[in-house]
Amino acid sequence: MQQATARAGANIALVKYWGKRDQRLNLPAAGSISITLAGLETRTTVTPDPALTADRFVLDGVEQPLARVGALLDLMRELARETVACRVESDNNFPTGAGLASSASGFAALVVAAAGALGLELSKRKLSELARLGSGSAARSIFGGFVEMAAGQRDDGADAVAHPLADPPDWPLEVVVAVTDAGGKAVGSRDGMNHTMQTSPYYRAWVDSVGDDLAEARSAIAGRDFERLAAVSEHSALKMHASMLAARPGLVYWNPATLACLHAVRALRAEGTGVFFTVDAGPQVKAVCRPGEGERVAGVLRGQPGVREVIVTGLGPGAAEVPGS
Ligand code: DP6
Repeated sequence: MQQATARAGANIALVKYWGKRDQRLNLPAAGSISITLAGLETRTTVTPDPALTADRFVLDGVEQPLARVGALLDLMRELARETVACRVESDNNFPTGAGLASSASGFAALVVAAAGALGLELSKRKLSELARLGSGSAARSIFGGFVEMAAGQRDDGADAVAHPLADPPDWPLEVVVAVTDAGGKAVGSRDGMNHTMQTSPYYRAWVDSVGDDLAEARSAIAGRDFERLAAVSEHSALKMHASMLAARPGLVYWNPATLACLHAVRALRAEGTGVFFTVDAGPQVKAVCRPGEGERVAGVLRGQPGVREVIVTGLGPGAAEVPGS
């Protein structure tokens, strides 16, 4: 056993995951398709320490409750037949908990670092399965570029894992993140998802329609067809938000700046710029751009009232141990 550090990029879903078929194993009700980002990342160091009596988890310098981190460590120790307590130190280079998918990069980095620290040699498929137990979207950040997550059919969740569809150089799209509110979000993804499942009359329709969106996105990615990917991605994002809005009480994640960005993206596209939007369980807007269009789109989003910060990035690799750390 030894200290190990891993990095993982955040990912944003183009065909969204919103709903579960099993709570205990965190199994998604439907598949999803995402892109892993280069510039928004979590770095996590796991240090097995026999002097500790319990695990510790420090995120961005602040001690956190162990919760799902402790549960994952327990499971991975069981796999490694180890009992040693661990210190987990994690740092995000972007605002945590503001709808920028920190749990995705966080749990992906955690499982890779913990596997390294506990001497576990695991396949990417297994790492994806473990990351899913932390957070459904984290299963996708194990891989780089374009990634598909399967809902799976098995009760034990062994087939609810992600796999890569295309590597970043195959289609180097750019991504502009418009941060419209840097504070923590009101209702986290997990609670918002469960609330939608329990109370939204649109939830069934949402889940039943994801299969068609996946097929469309898969084929758009295989054919590098930007217009088709734009259409299905905006449709998936707006449909997910429609299911949340119809919950009781309705979940409204957007603020005026969010809406200003959505209109700005559509106006840019109407003028011929290759760009589309997506929005997760928070007020930030992610604009996905054709290669070379990122800076232009960033300039326009920066000028929208209420936009605080704009981050321009591209597609990045999957989670990996940082050598020599
Ligand atoms: C809106 O992966 O955070 O970002 O599995 O409950 O941890 P849990 O949920 P999480 O949900 C992500 C929701 C989303 C859409 C997506 O990333 O697909």
